[in-house]
Amino acid sequence: MTDSAQIEEFRSGLLEWHRGVDRQMPWKGEKNPYRIWLSEIILQQTQVVRGAVYYERFLERFPTVADLAEASIDEVMKYWEGLGYYSRARNLHHTARVITADYNGIFPADYALLLNLKGIGPYTAAAIASFAFNIPKAVVDGNVYRVLARYFGIGEPIDTTAGKKLFFELADRCLDRSAPAAYNQAIIDFGATQCKPRNPDCYRCALHSGCKAFDSDLVESLPLKSKKQIRKNREFNFFYIRHGGGLLIRRREEADIWRNLYEFPLIETEKTSDWQELNALAAGKGWWQDGNVVLLGSAGPYTRVLTHQLRGGVPRRS
Ligand code: ADE
Repeated sequence: MTDSAQIEEFRSGLLEWHRGVDRQMPWKGEKNPYRIWLSEIILQQTQVVRGAVYYERFLERFPTVADLAEASIDEVMKYWEGLGYYSRARNLHHTARVITADYNGIFPADYALLLNLKGIGPYTAAAIASFAFNIPKAVVDGNVYRVLARYFGIGEPIDTTAGKKLFFELADRCLDRSAPAAYNQAIIDFGATQCKPRNPDCYRCALHSGCKAFDSDLVESLPLKSKKQIRKNREFNFFYIRHGGGLLIRRREEADIWRNLYEFPLIETEKTSDWQELNALAAGKGWWQDGNVVLLGSAGPYTRVLTHQLRGGVPRRS
């Protein structure tokens, strides 16, 4: 059990450190729940600098939750294009409609109700609750696991039920209940800029004197995970097939994260395949029985790293 004095030292050290930090971001200090929600969902997909561009563009077109609710899903997808993980955009749109229809366009100032909304998990619900409504709920994401595991020297894996419970309880005890927004922003910034996953500059860290991992030379080993990450190899071989004046594309129907998105005809393989093999596979699909269809060639293979299929992974955040 982590003692209260240590928690107090961590909290005050963290807030003190944050007072000297000037990390400018368009959503910093934002109180509007819609904008907070959007920034957090975008930041689950990309780094701060790139995310800021999407954020501004999105808000210019959909300044309010009602504007987002009224838009077509195709247009929302267009504004999300390039970020990946398109179910996040579908959930944004869906939830915008729920907020508009069921909540009169006003985000509920209640953690449990926020958590009930599609696409809003414990992290995002805590971020909205604390930043917009000053509700004392601690954010817990990959950054927070790392900071807490190191500072308090916790060797419990972060990807087990027991480990998660322990870290959520500790995060809750560390939270500054009188200033949840400032505290949550501080721990997010600390994890992103100081207590980085690789090669953190611990000698210049304002919290190192109380950090258990620093003291025991365990910084690079913590946090621990119980499961090994398994990467499945998937090669995506795309074909450019001319048909009349255009190129063939198809809408994906597979029940995966790219459902309903458009792509060039694709053959997926587990290993890099040569031309002959791919052509034979494509011919077997009967893609060019029609005399007007001309195969221009295949592009790829492109190997996509599917982070949602990494086992034992913790959601990455900037
Ligand atoms: N990454 C995720 N949420 C963030 C936030 N509110 N500020 C900075 N970086 C973040």
